[in-house]
Amino acid sequence: MAKTIIISNRLPVQLQIGKGTINAIPSVGGLATGMKSVHKGGESLWIGWSGLTDEDIHISLAPKIDEALAKHGCTAVNLSEQEVEGFYYGFSNRTIWPLFHYFMEYAEFELDFWETYKSVNQKFADAIIAQSDDDDIIWVHDYQLMLVPQMVKEKKPNASIGFFLHIPFPSYEIFRTLPWREEVLKGLLGADLIGFHTYDYERHFLSSVRRLLGLEVSFNEIYLQNRVIKVDSFPMGIDYNKFSNAAKKKMANAQRSDLQEKLDSHKASAPGTKLVLSIDRLDYSKGIAKRINAFEYFLNKYPEYQEKIRLIILAVPSRSNVPQYQLLKREIDELVGRINGELATVNWTPIWYFYRSLPFDSLIDLYTSCDIAWLTPLRDGMNLVAKEYIATRTKGTGVLILSEMAGSAYEMNEALLINPNNFEEQADTLKQAITMPEEEQANRIEILQKRLSRYNVEVWANSFMETLIQQKEESPARVAKKITPSVLETISKKYKKAQKRLLFIDYDGTLTGFHKDPQKAIPDEEMYQLLDALHNQEGTTMFLISGRDHETFGRWFLHKKYNMIVEHGVWISKNGEAFQLLEQVKNDWMQKIRPVLESFVDRTPGSFIEEKNFSLAWHYRNTDPDFGQKRAAELNEVLTSLIGNDDISVLSGNKVMEIKSSNVNKGRAAVRILSEDTYDFVFAIGDDWTDEFMFQELPKEAITVKVGLNKTQAKYFVEGTKRVRELLKKFIA
Ligand code: ADP
Ligand code: G6P
Repeated sequence: MAKTIIISNRLPVQLQIGKGTINAIPSVGGLATGMKSVHKGGESLWIGWSGLTDEDIHISLAPKIDEALAKHGCTAVNLSEQEVEGFYYGFSNRTIWPLFHYFMEYAEFELDFWETYKSVNQKFADAIIAQSDDDDIIWVHDYQLMLVPQMVKEKKPNASIGFFLHIPFPSYEIFRTLPWREEVLKGLLGADLIGFHTYDYERHFLSSVRRLLGLEVSFNEIYLQNRVIKVDSFPMGIDYNKFSNAAKKKMANAQRSDLQEKLDSHKASAPGTKLVLSIDRLDYSKGIAKRINAFEYFLNKYPEYQEKIRLIILAVPSRSNVPQYQLLKREIDELVGRINGELATVNWTPIWYFYRSLPFDSLIDLYTSCDIAWLTPLRDGMNLVAKEYIATRTKGTGVLILSEMAGSAYEMNEALLINPNNFEEQADTLKQAITMPEEEQANRIEILQKRLSRYNVEVWANSFMETLIQQKEESPARVAKKITPSVLETISKKYKKAQKRLLFIDYDGTLTGFHKDPQKAIPDEEMYQLLDALHNQEGTTMFLISGRDHETFGRWFLHKKYNMIVEHGVWISKNGEAFQLLEQVKNDWMQKIRPVLESFVDRTPGSFIEEKNFSLAWHYRNTDPDFGQKRAAELNEVLTSLIGNDDISVLSGNKVMEIKSSNVNKGRAAVRILSEDTYDFVFAIGDDWTDEFMFQELPKEAITVKVGLNKTQAKYFVEGTKRVRELLKKFIA
C-alpha cells in the first residue's frame, strides 16, 4: 500500500541520553508541532535528525535509539558533529535563515557550509530513496532540505514529490545575493508541487525562477523540458481541537498546576492587572528585544498603567551555537534586568522572563490566563503561536496583537495588526488592547476561531496532498502525449501509407529557435534541405504557416517555391507565385492602436513594435522577464478597453502580443486549404498560442503537435526545435 513519507530536519521528538536511558521530548517549532498532528493519524513514516550527533551515541545505544524513534513512526538520519556544524548551524542557520528573513547583514556565505549542506542533503535523499516505493508520496519540508527534491527525482523520476517551505521566501533582490542561488532553485524544482504559507512568498519564488533560471512560468506553473511544476500557497493551520479541548478541560478541572496557582495568586493580589503574553523561540527574527523596548516606551508614555500590567516573556532556547543567538540572549537578559531594575516597585515587577521550554499543559495555562498575546516578529513565515492563543480562548475574551510581518497576519485581520518597528503604534495598540470592551473582544475572537477551526492543520495537509496527487495526474504534459520513439514510429508508418498528405509547419519556435532580433532567425542549410525534401516529396503538400510578414518570408523561401501562409492567414503563396490576399481585411484600426503601443515601448526598455501589413506586434522578449510580463498584462487591459466592438483581437504569443483582425487566424486559413482537396494525412505543428487555432479547428483525425510543454489542444507534444527536425526527418527517411 502506498505510504506518505515526511522528511524534515527536525523530527517531532528529540532524543536525550540520560544515565543508560533515552528520553524522547517533543520538539518545539512550527514545523514539528504542526506536522505531528498530520503524522499521528495516518500511514506515514517520518525521516529526520534525532538531535543527537554520532559522537553522542555510544555504539551500544544505537539499537535503542532506533527503537525509541520507531515508537513515534520515525527513522533517523544520523549526522556527525562536523555535519551538524556545517549543515545545521552553518548553511541552514547562518546563511539561509537570516537571508530569507531579510537579515542580510547576518548572512554568511561560506563555501564549507555549502559543501556540507550539499552532502547532508544527499544523505537525506539517500534515506528516502532507500525507504520509498514507487507509488509513495514524498513530502519534503523546509529550508534545511532544499536540494533533496531534485536529488530524489534523479533516482526516482516517477515519485510524487511535494516540498513545503515553512519560512518566508524573500524577494528576488535579496535571494539573488546568495552565491548558490541557481543550485538552490534547481534543487527545489525536483518537486512536483512547491508550497508556501502566503501568496507573497510564492510570487517572490516564481520571480526568482523566471529571472535566474529563465524558465517559462505561466500563472503558478513552471514548465520544464519534461514536466510541469505547480507552485501554490497553503497557509498552515493548527490542530485546533487539541488546543481548544485542552483549554476546556483545564477550565473544568479543579486541580491547578503550580504555574496556574502562581498566575492566579498574582491576579488575586492585584485585581484589574492585565497579563500580556509573549511566546517565541529565542530568535532575532521574532523581534523580542524591540518588543521589550516598546513595552518600556509604553510604560513611559502611559505611566498610569505602571503596576497595572505585566509582560510575561517565554523565550525557548534555540540554535544556541550560532553567535547571533548568543548575542541576542545576552541582549535580552540585560534589557529585562535593566527595565525591571529601573521600574519595579515593592509590589510589582514589570516583566517576568522565562528562558526554557515548557510542557504543553503549562503552555495552555499561559495562553488561557493572559489577557493579551503580543507577538511582534520582524519577519515570520507563519507564526502558529498566534493561532494557538486564539484557539484556547474558549470564553471568548482576549486580544491578539500581531505583527504585519507574520504570515499569519494575512488570515487574521481581526487581530490588532501592527508594524513592529513603530513604537508609537505599538504603545497605542497595547492601550487599545487593555481597554477593549469584552463585546468587541468576543466579536473579533469568534470570527478568528471560526476560520481557524475550519482551516485546521488537517485540512491544510489534505489540501496540499490532494493538489500534489492532482498535479501528477493532470500535468498538461500528460494530456498531450509525448512523442516517444514508438509513437513516432506509428505516426511515420501512417505518413508513409498515406496517398495525399497535407502538412502545416510553423516557423519561429518550431523549425528554429528564438532570436533577440527576429530578422536574424534566418533559415539554416539543414532546414532548407529538410524543407526541400518534404516539398518535393511525391504526394505531400507542405505549407509553412507563420505570423511573419510576407516580405521576409518572400526573401527566405519564395525562390524555393514552398507553399506559404503568412501574417496568420492574410497572405498566401503557392509554388513560388507572388503572395496574394487570402482574406480581405481592414486595417484602419492601426492608427488608433499604434500610439498606444509606442507609449508601451517608451516605458518598457527592450521592447519594440513590429509592423506588418495587417497587424501590429509588440515584442517583449528582450525586456526584464518579470517587468515585461507585467507590462503585457497592462497592455492587454488597455487594448481590451480600447478595442470595444471593433473586429480586431489581441493574441498573446511567445513574448509577443499581436493585434490583428479577428477574422484572420491560422486555424481558419488551414481549414480553407484543407477544404480545397481531399487528404488522408493531415499534420500541424507549432509552438505558441497562435498555433492553437490550427489544433482546434483541424478535424480530429489530424495529427497535431505542440512544441514545448504549455497547455495545449494538440494531441502530441515534443520538447524543442531539435526534436521537431528529428520528427520531420523521419517523414523523408
Ligand atoms: P517557529 O516555528 O518559528 O518556532 P511558530 O510560532 O510557528 O514559530 O511555532 C512555535 C511552536 O512551538 C508552536 O506550536 C508552540 O506551541 C511551540 N512552542 C513555543 N514555545 C514553546 C515552549 N516554551 N514550550 C513548548 N512549546 C513551545
Ligand atoms: C522554524 C523552522 C523549522 C524549525 C523550527 C525550530 O519553525 O521553520 O524548520 O524546525 O523553526 O528550529 P530548530 O532549528 O530548533 O529546528
